[in-house]
Amino acid sequence: MSTAPARTYWIDGSLALPEAAHAPLLSHALHYGTSVFEGIRAYPTPRGVAIFRLDDHLRRFFASAEAYGLKIAYTLERLHEACCETLRASGMEDAYLRPLAYFGDETIALSPSLLCSTHVALAVFRFPPLSAGAPGFRATISPIEKFSSRAMPATVKGGGHYTNSVLALQDAKARGFDEAILLNVKGDVAEGTGENLFIVKDGAIRTNDASADVLYGITRDSILRIAEREGIPSSIGAISVEALFGADEAFFTGTAAEVIPILSVDDRVFPKTRPVTDKLRAVYANAARGGDPRFDDWLTYL
Ligand SMILES: Cc1ncc(COP(=O)(O)O)c(C=O)c1O
Repeated sequence: MSTAPARTYWIDGSLALPEAAHAPLLSHALHYGTSVFEGIRAYPTPRGVAIFRLDDHLRRFFASAEAYGLKIAYTLERLHEACCETLRASGMEDAYLRPLAYFGDETIALSPSLLCSTHVALAVFRFPPLSAGAPGFRATISPIEKFSSRAMPATVKGGGHYTNSVLALQDAKARGFDEAILLNVKGDVAEGTGENLFIVKDGAIRTNDASADVLYGITRDSILRIAEREGIPSSIGAISVEALFGADEAFFTGTAAEVIPILSVDDRVFPKTRPVTDKLRAVYANAARGGDPRFDDWLTYL
């Protein structure tokens, strides 16, 4: 049995003991959400442990940091190595990696990029897919609106952005649902609280883009590429609530949830047979676990 600690940390340049994994109370990020982060998965594969689309996640991490003026003192290559080193130290095969960059405690003024240090940390821990064992999610249209990209850049993963998701998911759960679907300021579908959304109509898939105020999910991109290889037609554009309710199938995509069918949205119950979702879900799960040579370049083997 493994004696590895439940969480393994790398903090500001080196592996760190759990006792050192603390931030000062006056950290700017704690007060104002001025952090950026990633959620990355590692899977056991026939060729050993592999991290899924690591450099794509790290590229988004750097883009998120730039949007908030966080100055990461490491190269992408160094953080790539840090992810591998920390995962190796964890001894885990099935793991979730959480890189985080945040402003320190030099000031509580609202212009931290001029005054605060940027800290970079990484935690590795177990986080079973939200979809594990679940047939799908029962979703609800949230009364909480998705923030506009004119307010905050939705295409990057800012810590403070997630207060929007927290409010929506807490409301959905309190009303007995599994997940919320947020509408954007135009009244169209934006996304789930931590997932992108796809609909299926007449055998073709459709998802939205930045003009709907969504995060460009790595899983979303993987599904679009898998669909192309599988000959499943796809389109990108606005998704109205009517289109969602009129779809043959619908599903969420995200690192935490992977690909998960939407069983229902409020009173609209989707058919129990969902051939396109099932196909994409199976190909994705297999590719992430090293079973599909067509997508082997998505994997960083330890
Ligand atoms: C708001 C939001 N949309 C979409 C996604 C899906 O992104 P990814 O597939 O990169 O995990 C996430 C997950 O991080 C998210 O938080």
